[in-house]
Amino acid sequence: MCGIVGHVASTPSQRSREVVLAGLARLEYRGYDSAGVALVDADSLHVHKAVGKLANLVDLLDTAEVAPALSGIGHTRWATHGRPTTANAHPHTSMDGRFALVHNGIIENADALREKLRGEGVVLASETDTEVLVHMLARAVDDPQVPAWEGDVAGIAPQHHDTARAMVGAMRHVAGRIDGTFTLLLVCADAPDVVVAARRSSPLVVGLGQGENFLGSDVLAFVEHTSTAVEIGQDQFVAVTATAVTVVDADGSVIASPKTYEVDFASDRATKDGWPTFMEKEIHEQPRGVADTLADRLDSLGHLTLDEVRIPEHVLRTIDKMVIVGCGTASYAGQVARYAIEHWCRIPVEVELAHEFRYRDPVVTEKTLVVAISQSGETMDTIMAIRHAREQGAKVVAVVNTPGSTISRESDAVLLTHAGPEIAVASTKAFTSQVTACFILGLYLAQVRGNKYVDEIQDYLEKLGKLPDQIQHVLDGGETVRQAARVMKDATSVIYLGRHVGFPVAMEGALKLKEICYIHAEGFAAGELKHGPIALIDEGQPVIIIVPTPRRPELHNKVVSNIQEVRARGARTIVVAEEGDSSADEFAEIVFRVPPTPTLYAPLLTVVPLQIFACELATVKGLDVDQPRNLAKSVTVE
Ligand code: F6R
Repeated sequence: MCGIVGHVASTPSQRSREVVLAGLARLEYRGYDSAGVALVDADSLHVHKAVGKLANLVDLLDTAEVAPALSGIGHTRWATHGRPTTANAHPHTSMDGRFALVHNGIIENADALREKLRGEGVVLASETDTEVLVHMLARAVDDPQVPAWEGDVAGIAPQHHDTARAMVGAMRHVAGRIDGTFTLLLVCADAPDVVVAARRSSPLVVGLGQGENFLGSDVLAFVEHTSTAVEIGQDQFVAVTATAVTVVDADGSVIASPKTYEVDFASDRATKDGWPTFMEKEIHEQPRGVADTLADRLDSLGHLTLDEVRIPEHVLRTIDKMVIVGCGTASYAGQVARYAIEHWCRIPVEVELAHEFRYRDPVVTEKTLVVAISQSGETMDTIMAIRHAREQGAKVVAVVNTPGSTISRESDAVLLTHAGPEIAVASTKAFTSQVTACFILGLYLAQVRGNKYVDEIQDYLEKLGKLPDQIQHVLDGGETVRQAARVMKDATSVIYLGRHVGFPVAMEGALKLKEICYIHAEGFAAGELKHGPIALIDEGQPVIIIVPTPRRPELHNKVVSNIQEVRARGARTIVVAEEGDSSADEFAEIVFRVPPTPTLYAPLLTVVPLQIFACELATVKGLDVDQPRNLAKSVTVE
């Protein structure tokens, strides 16, 4: 939620403006209510803001006189405090216009701080929680009672050094007075060659360039310029100049060698690359996402490996329960994974929405393994869930798509999904790569705990290895789905039904329709139909049903009966069925076919037509497929 970008150059030019705008374009998926930049030239600071999509800000800057700058910061907003107006857009400035600040997060004690500032004569120009911070920072820099930081800000012009130290000191001072979550980037007209930043429970990464450096909410902000990133930890501060990065701990000491990592996102994976929308592109990237997530998982002895495991095997052998936490699509991926992990490892698996988890006082012990699934690795609800779990002594495995993200850093083991950057707000390739990664985790646990022999695991992996081609096959048949979407374009409600692993797929299909088509949709367990939902069926009600393979008759036959039941009550039925299974054809208005695959793997195929269906329906309705209303890609506040 909210994207922030920063850049520092060696010489004044238009580079900061270009880098910040390009970074905002890549981060626009995190919020698109308004956008703004602050550019700092030799001795003054210029702020430009516009309501609505980033394109409005770009238009504004195209017609404005923009002086060559040494540094710049930018923000794309998802409104929390205050409506999307120009006044509420970031950057916010101090009363004297010398300081500009962008913020991602929520300041919980903003009201009290605002009242205090008002009492001191500060005039606030916006309704935001952020604005209080820029006034506090500006006052702290000038306040002789607030000590400047005593260390050296590397790479800064000598005449700006005192200001930069005062900015770091002010950041530390203000951070100690605010409750809540934040990533803050601060620039000052008196020190144009530095951006000072801070973070607590909100994301911040620094990119290392040649004679220039970058800051961003995530690596996408600067991935086209550098692939080397520095991790900024919880409650750390950083002063970034064109040639150096000084990371300061909460106690004021310099972190001598902050951890750097290489970003493996090719920058072209973050562009539309000829596709009309990111969502369509990402749906079509699923064969690669699944293949890349599976790649190189076997060591020289044929044993399955994860990416980073800091949990000893003897501890994994004592695990007596697993809890999978995540939100939205990630949680549905977890629900699919439960069927496989319980079956392979014989461990009870609970799947819990991350935001519900800690509030129900869950039974979590040192023998509980918590699996946190998150594309962004920055979802605040999931972060809070893993913190709670670790406080109870549980071990946490992160299944994340973003290396270096908070969830990966705060976990005991990491399993990366190699889906590449997901830009469309509606998750597609993240889902299939999360399910794949969870299958790998399940097989890894089965190996460590001795539930399966090496050759059995290799056999499961081999079958999983066929999925990328099978997904491609489903994609190749996408036209039938697109036609169905066009036929259903006036639907006002759609019901999805699935049984066993088809149930979470039904919920995922319904979520896609809600979020990008604004159509009311619900996914039900097919077995639940007669316990209530069948009352919703009326003449013409569209129902999409995921039919299990006929090789599992105990599942298959019941779902085929459900199709007949809804059809008999006037439903328009769309069926997702295995190739060669014609048992539902006579009760189905439209049938999408998927290739035969083991039951547990079927969600990797059956979800694909549902994604295409939603994507096409939103397109036909003329909606913004990639940036649906009211949503943002990363939900970084609770
Ligand atoms: C739905 C969607 C969301 C996310 C959820 C978790 O299409 O994208 O439901 O799945 O907000 O996000 P991550 O995976 O980043 O934790």
